[in-house]
Amino acid sequence: MSIQARVIDGKALSAQVLDEVREDVHALAVQHIYPALAVVLIGQDPASEVYVRNKLLRAKDVGIRSLEHRLPQDISQQQVLQLLARLNADPSVNGILVQLPLPAHINEQAVIQAIAPIKDVDGFHRENVGGLVQGGDVLTPCTPSGCMRLLYETCGDLSGLHAVVIGRSNIVGKPMASLLLQANCTVSVVHSRSVDAPALCRMADIVVAAVGKPQMIDACWLKPGAVVIDVGINRIATASGHRLVGDVDYESASSVASAITPVPGGVGPMTIAYLLKNTLIASERQRAQRPISYPTVG
Ligand code: GUN
Repeated sequence: MSIQARVIDGKALSAQVLDEVREDVHALAVQHIYPALAVVLIGQDPASEVYVRNKLLRAKDVGIRSLEHRLPQDISQQQVLQLLARLNADPSVNGILVQLPLPAHINEQAVIQAIAPIKDVDGFHRENVGGLVQGGDVLTPCTPSGCMRLLYETCGDLSGLHAVVIGRSNIVGKPMASLLLQANCTVSVVHSRSVDAPALCRMADIVVAAVGKPQMIDACWLKPGAVVIDVGINRIATASGHRLVGDVDYESASSVASAITPVPGGVGPMTIAYLLKNTLIASERQRAQRPISYPTVG
């Protein structure tokens, strides 16, 4: 007997998160505090253009000031680092995001590590990555943070659940595994060298797919009743043009999972909502100069 999975509506939940952010922004405006996000886009990667446009639109929507820095494809790494030094030193800038990927001649790590950790709204700086692994209340990467909110809304307490993360990128897979561990899940990370990835995945109560391979994960990978979070956004050709699909074969997986995020309308909108939430958190930290707090280990 096949079940029909519940659709996890990321659009609706992100609207709720954006409402929370908007309310906080209004409360700050009364005190004449105006949080600002600097977005740096280098070159003309079409997907990055779309992502950045959406981020700027949403920022405007909730009343966060955004400062757009569009740099030419052939800009030198030195010039990028100089811009970041200026943004780091500017007290009117609370969050800094450099859209990835970068042109091949620019070293991604050199750029990420040049962002002041307290303004690193992507949570990619090693100080924030290390803080996340140790359970500190640091700025955490936006996509995994959005996925966690979707999971809490769907499952409630995650303690003791077995979560399988498919993919081990710095942007999604690794921080996702850290957040799930923090939430007391048993966590496995499956990747291209894993032996029998579908069998490992079939043990999971929660599956987070972040591999960038269109519709790779189908019903055969899932335990009946699993909750599926699909991070993939892949453009595939169709007879009439193109469409977006996830890393999960939605139709097939829906017949086995208990709940699943659609693409589009699942994880994507949550990423932007958490970017803006991080901008508020960053601006609050900068005002309070608050040190990171770490839990006592239990
Ligand atoms: N490119 C793809 N995803 C991301 C992200 O979350 N942040 C940045 N800065 N670039 C990206």
